[in-house]
Amino acid sequence: MTLIVRTVKDLRQHVRAWKAKGETVGVVPTMGALHEGHLSLARRARSECDRVITTIFVNPKQFNNADDLKKYPRTEEADAALLATVPVDLIFAPLPEEVYPEGFMTTVSVGGVSEPLEGRMRPGHFDGVATVVSKLFGMTMADYGYFGQKDWQQLQVVLRLVSDLNIPITIVGCETIREADGLAMSSRNVRLTEAGRTRAPVLFSAITTAADDIRAGQSDRMAIREAAEKIRAAGFERVEYIELRDAETLMPSDDPRRPRRMLAAAWLDGVRLIDNIPV
Ligand code: PAJ
Repeated sequence: MTLIVRTVKDLRQHVRAWKAKGETVGVVPTMGALHEGHLSLARRARSECDRVITTIFVNPKQFNNADDLKKYPRTEEADAALLATVPVDLIFAPLPEEVYPEGFMTTVSVGGVSEPLEGRMRPGHFDGVATVVSKLFGMTMADYGYFGQKDWQQLQVVLRLVSDLNIPITIVGCETIREADGLAMSSRNVRLTEAGRTRAPVLFSAITTAADDIRAGQSDRMAIREAAEKIRAAGFERVEYIELRDAETLMPSDDPRRPRRMLAAAWLDGVRLIDNIPV
């Protein structure tokens, strides 16, 4: 079974011993409830680093809803069993009071890139992410950090943060892992009804078609409107946003010479699904 460490002191002891031998360390930050998407990051880390740490911490600071935090699945045993198949060297699973001890006072807030889209819909969310990720980098002293493109905006926030604060870590953005029908893997997918699960792939197929149409010369606005109609017609209650943005800054972009990203969020069965693709 994989070693599970609960305190920063113990974690540092392991990492210091590895570093003394000149070994490289990769970290895969997660909130647990692991699926193939998370495991793909751990496998990538395994193939590129001498040592791999997966962190499992349901970070209270990034939830803007107390109920959502309470309901977040906690499946540590199953997670540890999955991580043993990679395998990873160490699981860091601290308690909230280890991460945010009495007197904790600092917030890391990334401007610009964290403001639109998810930032607008979930106030404070990216401050919570930026704060905990900064702490996890400091705690693990990792050389490489692995993040999924599934959460594209989060990945851009982390890249900005590491660059702005000169954190000595290389961030690796990894492809989104999908079900056979195209639905991006997410711990939230299990909350869909059976009927919802069959409709959910429309989110990905609709934005894929829109991206193809834009590349073929259709107007951005028209392609996006058609995608939103398809998603609603498939039974989604609400399309929160479908936006074509500069892939790095997440600002509106009508410059096809810059890398662009189409990002979408929509509600199905009371579950909020997000996805994104390059355009
Ligand atoms: P969590 O939602 O558990 O995701 C952990 C990592 O797995 C993130 O980098 C996310 O982008 C990646 N991931 C999730 N689904 C994926 C998929 N289908 N394909 C590829 N990668 C996928 O994101 C967080 O946790 C937290 O915000 C965290 C960064 C851990 C900070 O608390």
